Amino acid sequence: MRIGVLTGGGDAPGLNAAIRAVVYRAEFYGYEVLGIVDGWAGLLGEGNVRPLRRDDVAYIMPLGGTILGTTRTNPLKTEQHRKELQANLKKFGIDALVAIGGDDTLSVAAALAEMGIPAVGVPKTMDNDIAETDYCIGFDTAVSTVVFALDKLNTTASAHRRVMVVEVMGRDAGWVAVVGGLAGGADFIAIPEMPCTIAQMCEQIAGGRQRGKPFNIIVVAEGAKITDLPEEFDLGATDAFGHMRLDRRSIGDRVAREIECRTGLESRVTVLGHLQRGGSPTVFDRLLATRVGVAAVDLVHEKRWGYLPVLKDNRITAVRLREAVAHNRTVDMSLYDLARVFYA
Ligand code: F6P
Repeated sequence: MRIGVLTGGGDAPGLNAAIRAVVYRAEFYGYEVLGIVDGWAGLLGEGNVRPLRRDDVAYIMPLGGTILGTTRTNPLKTEQHRKELQANLKKFGIDALVAIGGDDTLSVAAALAEMGIPAVGVPKTMDNDIAETDYCIGFDTAVSTVVFALDKLNTTASAHRRVMVVEVMGRDAGWVAVVGGLAGGADFIAIPEMPCTIAQMCEQIAGGRQRGKPFNIIVVAEGAKITDLPEEFDLGATDAFGHMRLDRRSIGDRVAREIECRTGLESRVTVLGHLQRGGSPTVFDRLLATRVGVAAVDLVHEKRWGYLPVLKDNRITAVRLREAVAHNRTVDMSLYDLARVFYA
């Protein structure tokens, strides 16, 4: 058996730990592994693959990024792409695919399995919004970076008595904002799932000042819905899966300006951006990546095509890829409510 492994979509810490786990488990069964370079793009055109053996992956666990490279490529977008993908699978003798990625990458894997191409998935996204799993690879490291930043911003905000607006990632779900904001002591959290207003933020800030808190930390997810912000301009082209570039919303900056304008309090913005996706994975992400990476190869061994290993109640189990990509897993509102208890 020759297994092709790829990483697709945005990178996240823990991808290399997952690749390592796939290779080790595959060798345990006596299977070969081919690394597919740059996600699904590595199966288009002439194709771009390279053999992966234990020696290639033995020391990559602590590395952020992905040794295979990643892109946001939809190989099912055109008939030509489909043909190239199938021809490359044949050319390279790939008998099974392990696709490590978020909802876009996994939807492709689900579709391939439905077309009869042997494929399984591995759940990765720092947004943590894949359905049917309690955690995705990359989230824990990303949110740890957010908390590290909030701890630092707290001290400088308090020194200057400023309002600090912190923009974090989170396209459709506010996991990073809510968990980061809760652990980092935010005074207001704006997320995609719960529309809010600048008026509410200002009210919270004013109330906090009256109650004696002289500075504020406002966490805003890049996909937050803030209904009384001035209209957004055209955000430009979308990616291969139809997503807009949310950094172009500059939502953190717009929130900070609006708060300063309405309250007269000096407000500054910090956009954490890709810092959240960089660096060495935490213990949690290493362990999760290792567990689901090994489990994905077990699924291949059992020929359970179209499945995805997930973490539920701290146990690894398998669900259908189709179910996992059917919808985004939105934030646990009990955590959001818990965070509100600690608003200024
Ligand atoms: O999909 C994960 C994510 O981190 C989103 O939160 C964010 O909108 C997007 O990736 C940004 O990705 P990139 O900058 O690589 O296009």
